[in-house]
Amino acid sequence: MKIAVIGTGYVGLVAGTCFAETGNGVICVDVNPTKVESLRKGVLPIYEPGLEEMVLRNVQAGRLSFTTDTGDAVRRSQVIFIAVGTPQDEDGSADLSYVLAAARDIGRAMDGPRIVVDKSTVPVGTADKVAAAIREVTEHAVVVVSNPEFLKEGNAIDDFLKPDRVVIGTDDEEARKVMLDLYGPFVRTGKPILCMDTRSAEMTKYAANALLATKISFINEIANLCELLGADVAKVREGIGSDARIGPHFLFAGIGYGGSCFPKDVSALGRTARDSGYEFRILDAVQSANEHQKGVILQKVETVFGSDLTGKTFAIWGLAFKPKTDDMREAPSLTIIKGLLQRGAKVVAHDPEAMKEARRYLGDSVRLVDSNYEACTDADALLVLTEWSTYQRPDFDTIARLLKNRVIIDGRNIYSPERMKAQGFTYHSIGRAAV
Ligand SMILES: NC(=O)c1ccc[n+]([C@@H]2O[C@H](COP(=O)([O-])OP(=O)(O)OC[C@H]3O[C@@H](n4cnc5c(N)ncnc54)[C@H](O)[C@@H]3O)[C@@H](O)[C@H]2O)c1
Repeated sequence: MKIAVIGTGYVGLVAGTCFAETGNGVICVDVNPTKVESLRKGVLPIYEPGLEEMVLRNVQAGRLSFTTDTGDAVRRSQVIFIAVGTPQDEDGSADLSYVLAAARDIGRAMDGPRIVVDKSTVPVGTADKVAAAIREVTEHAVVVVSNPEFLKEGNAIDDFLKPDRVVIGTDDEEARKVMLDLYGPFVRTGKPILCMDTRSAEMTKYAANALLATKISFINEIANLCELLGADVAKVREGIGSDARIGPHFLFAGIGYGGSCFPKDVSALGRTARDSGYEFRILDAVQSANEHQKGVILQKVETVFGSDLTGKTFAIWGLAFKPKTDDMREAPSLTIIKGLLQRGAKVVAHDPEAMKEARRYLGDSVRLVDSNYEACTDADALLVLTEWSTYQRPDFDTIARLLKNRVIIDGRNIYSPERMKAQGFTYHSIGRAAV
């Protein structure tokens, strides 16, 4: 099948490459010429495990190409995916300007009927808006399908090739057949392709992200209460996670959710509800608990060092909003670093993959170093903010030697309090007693 993917970010590049991997001819389009130029040279603009080799393989096989020319890509394709960003607008809603601009670009280029697939996360009713935008500029027939994406950054290839489920929203029989054909190779193990109307498909994506964000805020609230009551959230997680009705996933206490999806999607769903005259009470609580949680590390820092941090230096391990990605959009590390700097502290930080992004977000306000141990040199404490695997079993003797004070504040609960105590560290974590 000939496919165009409009928007070559985390979702578009992964989707396009995986469709090429199963033998389709894919043209990935982006408005950013630097990105396209870089991809043409085989240099990926993002870090996603396994993606680079798959891109190179498919480019070499002639199944995957990159362009800034939407018109050409549309004319040469049967199915066109929209995978552009839907960032948060000032009023909390999803900004649809990129999606609708892409829709108009597609419409203007159409020289015959096309299937246009919305893969961006968009509010309920957007498929109708996309169809209307296209029909305004073309006479040719168009079917707009909603096909929300559930991949996780850091595991995107696997999630796309082996999805838990695929959601296809359309009432058009022909378009449904084409989509089932396209996704067939990814569900050979029997995972379901769920066909529904476009509105239910659009809502499914928001409901999924809002529920996952709710789980995170819930366990964080439990963690904070555990600390006050002398309970251990890790034990509580095991206790509730083994209940089949609850399950163990998304129940790790931490420093709040971030990233390019949960914050904006929870906000957009709340906005959609308000615009429909409904007050979605839980979502406000989820957001407010998350904002509170981003401040918990600073509270712990103040417990140890007081509120004036002038003259203090903090080593930070982990800047990306989660491991195995370089994405720093809405990363809790940004809020924490800002809080430290405002209190007069200096920050020296390390991340295995997000250093380039960190430079973009933080400029010269923090010192970025190439080794996680170097960050500890003469620092007053080590703050662990992302649970990268390379941080999980470090050399604690070296850390103890390099730090000015043996203080570790662990926002991801990756170390054992008993071990930290035995090594002579003052150790604070989330939802567990400080030692
Ligand atoms: N990142 C994730 O983990 C994830 C997961 C599931 C769903 N989503 C959703 O998928 C969508 C895309 O997310 P992302 O993280 O890949 O975004 P991104 O910001 O990484 O990429 C979007 C790309 O679209 C390009 N673009 C914008 N307007 C364009 C146009 N008119 N024509 C061509 N290219 C254009 C941008 O230059 C950019 O490269 C969003 O709606 C997001 O909510 C993201």
